[in-house]
Amino acid sequence: MSHFADLSTLPPDALLGLMTAFRADPRAEKFDLGVGVYKDLAGETPILTAVKKAEAMLIGAQSTKVYEGQRGNTDFCGHVEDFVFGPGHPARAEGRVLSFTAPGGCGALFQGVSLMRKTGTRRVWVSKPTWPNHPNVVRSLGLEVGEYAYAKDGAFDLAGMTASLGAAERGDGVILQGPCHNPTGIDPSADDWRALGAFAWEKGLLVMLDVAYHGFAQSLDRDMDGVRAFMAEAGEAMVAYSCSKNFGLYRERTGCFLLLGETAEGISAATTHVADNGRATWSMPPAHGAGIVATILGDAVLRAEWETELNAMRTRMKGLRADLSDALVAATGSNELAALKSQNGMFSQLPITPAHTIELREKHGVYMPASGRINIAGLNPGDIPRLAEILSGYL
Ligand SMILES: Cc1ncc(COP(=O)(O)O)c(C=O)c1O
Repeated sequence: MSHFADLSTLPPDALLGLMTAFRADPRAEKFDLGVGVYKDLAGETPILTAVKKAEAMLIGAQSTKVYEGQRGNTDFCGHVEDFVFGPGHPARAEGRVLSFTAPGGCGALFQGVSLMRKTGTRRVWVSKPTWPNHPNVVRSLGLEVGEYAYAKDGAFDLAGMTASLGAAERGDGVILQGPCHNPTGIDPSADDWRALGAFAWEKGLLVMLDVAYHGFAQSLDRDMDGVRAFMAEAGEAMVAYSCSKNFGLYRERTGCFLLLGETAEGISAATTHVADNGRATWSMPPAHGAGIVATILGDAVLRAEWETELNAMRTRMKGLRADLSDALVAATGSNELAALKSQNGMFSQLPITPAHTIELREKHGVYMPASGRINIAGLNPGDIPRLAEILSGYL
């Protein structure tokens, strides 16, 4: 008797399927707007120079592969705390903060939703639309998914969001994306962030801020302004921080789970649950990526080199956004897509129907998910005029 014969077959992951189909497409003219990683002018996702150097230093200095402990690399955790809270945040000295190395941003998201469940949370709200792995993680932990309105007419929709969250109960969880919302590229303003923090506090919601694109919006310093403004009002918050994009460490699975609490007692209890959850899943966090990040951030020269590389990635994406936006405005004769320019990060969402995304793929070799999300960082500048011409037929 097979234990597995009666298992249902899950549908394939839509984005991974798209990548495979793109590679297999023999047409000379094809455009990959679906891929979820940063690409340079040559269409590559290279290892950053600062990472290469840090890796060499790390390997040269390493004398053991013994486990680092449940928090993983504590220097790394300290650097991410600096990024998220700022070096002088009083909660750090007061024991109201915890940080654990996690296997990527997803490992940190998993920690956060697991901790929500331990506190009695039954439902976790995600933005509509959001990155599909948010509801996936929530459901995998047996919790219900709620959806809140996020953007309207190309702008963040505070009223819509708080109206949908009006149906949330005290203790419900909320996943709120930090800078560079995936998939829309639309972010709350500083005032919106403050209002959201006050709203979460008032409603007793447990919020996790998902920071996967730090440094991709305006600058390393300014990108955390919203997150900090939110935390100042909300009092308590979880943070899932990913180094996959800003350090280009995707496969090294490098992330950090952080928590800001109202009381040191609460943080001390939460620490035991986060440690226990890590123990029961990956047991000990991976070391290599966190070691690279700690090496870079602990060395003034490497840090400056990394910041230059990060700034170059952001500048390139902003240039591509502006070029695509101008080309689409010219090709459609409508100003609607001028908003692409002011959006942040790797992604934006085009107002294209799921049926048209299929037609675009089949007829024109333009690959994008059914949601109409496009990866700006995947664009080749030379392709933009032709792409705008094709897309304008659907916009
Ligand atoms: C919104 C969002 N959150 C989190 C992540 C975390 O990714 P990783 O687990 O690879 O660090 C991603 C990556 O694509 C993302 O887009």
